[in-house]
Amino acid sequence: MISRKTIDEVFEAARVEEVVGEFVQLKKSGSNFKGLSPFSDERTPSFMVSPVKQIWKDFSSGKGGNAISFLMEHEHFTYPEAIKYLAKKYNIEIEETVQTDEQKEQANEKESLFLVSEYAKNQFHINLLKLEEGKAIGLSYFKERGFTQETIEKFELGYSINQWDAFTSKAIKDGYKVDFLGKTGLTVVKDEKQFDRFKGRVMFPILSMSGRTLGFGGRILNNEKKAAKYLNSPESDIYHKSKVLYGIFQAKQSIAKEDNCYLVEGYTDVIQFSQTGINNVVSSSGTALTPDQIRLINRLTKNITVLFDGDAAGLRASLRGIDLILEQGMNVKICTFPEGEDPDSFAKNNSLEELTLFLEENSKDFISFKASILAAEAKNDPIKKAETIHNMVTSISKISDLIKQEIYIQECSKIMDISEEVLFNTLAQILKRESKESIKKSKPNNAFEVISKKKQPLEKVDVQYELERKIIELLLLYGIEEEKFEELTVETDEKGNITYKSEIVKTKIFEKIYLELQEDEIEFANEGFKKIYFNIIESFNQSQEFKIDKFINQLSPDIAEAVTHIIMDEDKYVLHNWIGKEIYVKDKKDTLTQLVNETILNLRRFLVTQKINELAQTINKSEDVEAKMEVLSETLDYTKLKKLLSDKLNRVL
Ligand code: CTP
Ligand code: MN
Repeated sequence: MISRKTIDEVFEAARVEEVVGEFVQLKKSGSNFKGLSPFSDERTPSFMVSPVKQIWKDFSSGKGGNAISFLMEHEHFTYPEAIKYLAKKYNIEIEETVQTDEQKEQANEKESLFLVSEYAKNQFHINLLKLEEGKAIGLSYFKERGFTQETIEKFELGYSINQWDAFTSKAIKDGYKVDFLGKTGLTVVKDEKQFDRFKGRVMFPILSMSGRTLGFGGRILNNEKKAAKYLNSPESDIYHKSKVLYGIFQAKQSIAKEDNCYLVEGYTDVIQFSQTGINNVVSSSGTALTPDQIRLINRLTKNITVLFDGDAAGLRASLRGIDLILEQGMNVKICTFPEGEDPDSFAKNNSLEELTLFLEENSKDFISFKASILAAEAKNDPIKKAETIHNMVTSISKISDLIKQEIYIQECSKIMDISEEVLFNTLAQILKRESKESIKKSKPNNAFEVISKKKQPLEKVDVQYELERKIIELLLLYGIEEEKFEELTVETDEKGNITYKSEIVKTKIFEKIYLELQEDEIEFANEGFKKIYFNIIESFNQSQEFKIDKFINQLSPDIAEAVTHIIMDEDKYVLHNWIGKEIYVKDKKDTLTQLVNETILNLRRFLVTQKINELAQTINKSEDVEAKMEVLSETLDYTKLKKLLSDKLNRVL
């Protein structure tokens, strides 16, 4: 694990505008930067970075956060990956928390395997582009397949020299240990002898999501019957076949942006698609899809389109893959290519427009797909038909979303011409049988859902929500500041007239807010705001200093995101250059005292008004006169309080 110290150092050093600036072209705009959203295709910039607050916000997708969360969103790094990336960028030495010697050795060894793989990738690539043998054999092969120079560079394709140990001896000369060459499988070590595993093959490096070289696929060039067409790196500490997807590094941004991932079978399918202009494509490299691979895609999108070769061999086996995808709560479509074609050949022989159109017209949802291939087999055989239906309902049973389930049952009923009732019964049976084995996990409710919702239309503004949000905003932006507040003490004379005694007190804004809300025992109605509120108050109480970026960094991701939205929404006004709002924002600081008073009083008055309305309703319903009187007197008290609050409000306004 990375030590707390290193993490702190990284946060200390990282400047959000510098980190984001590597991926988005930013232009200075007032105290902020703005640019085109990297998460959507847009013409007018709605992406903002605040150097002061050290946060970013994308108004077109609603995403936002700090430097780390940007890397997690944009590069799809995990948290440790993001920290490591930044440590490298800012030359911070990564200190791991205390490790046992064994752990240390393991970490070092893994790092060595990465290094030697990276080295091999570069060597193979240089061989292909610079060596006579590489150019004559490898490069001409790729050119023949129609790969452009740009494509060859994008996928860092390579060539391994056709001699027994050309690569191995060069690597050893360059200081790499035989031990690691052997463990990555680049070198086959037999007794005293060492051979290059990939001798004479063209090389496809397999990269992790974050771009590290994990392993290789090597394709043979001659038609030797004995040797396998493709040879892959063996399993190692860094290469686990079931956990990688070929092309994920080059495809990740496009997958997220298009919100769909095409899944193909081979290396060349990926490459040819990318060259034609469809970049959101990965390959499971000839093996059956695994749950780990699906999870990898799930980090980027909920939608997978599986593409099958025309020959339909192995189709049945791949049907299992479909259920796996459904089980992970993802949506799956299937597209088959015409006979004799695979994605590679089809993309090679068609334009981007044609390919796009073909994919659009031939992608079927999984029910129609299953129906079409299974029903073709079943046709007039009632037993086969029953099997088919059972097979389809089994797939439907993997979907945890009940609405989707129902829609698919209806779909299935139509296609297979069988009543929905029977299908639902079958579904219930399957679920019952399976419930013993696996209890479906349901997603926890997200307390922040309501925060990220778009604002309601004007007439439906939720006053309480807006006021609670305003209070959070004030706390975040100005909570630690000290302002002068007028404290009013109320005096009532014998006649019941109210007079105010005024006193000016210097108070920190957060204390003022806290005490005022405490006085009325006001609790936030919105669960998300409630959490943020307690977080802020606790944070203020702990230290005299409050830095918004530090505060956000220690929050859980969902709270951090909500907080970012609140702070950055204020800047939205500046961004859109809404003159009225801009003035409002600018003036805000001068009249902070007023704003704080106003917001608290408004909230209190709102809640009191609500209470009065509630009481009025109980009076109407109640039969008992005495009870009515009691409620009435309570109402009067609240009405007085409301009057008082209104008076106070008038004074501050
Ligand atoms: N594959 C493999 N080992 C083999 C054959 C295939 O690992 N002996 C994997 C490769 O990842 C390959 C994928 O399965 O890309 C699909 O196999 P195939 O369709 O035969 O390969 P293509 O990608 O079509 O290769 P090519 O067009 O170069 O023949
Ligand atoms: Mn092929």
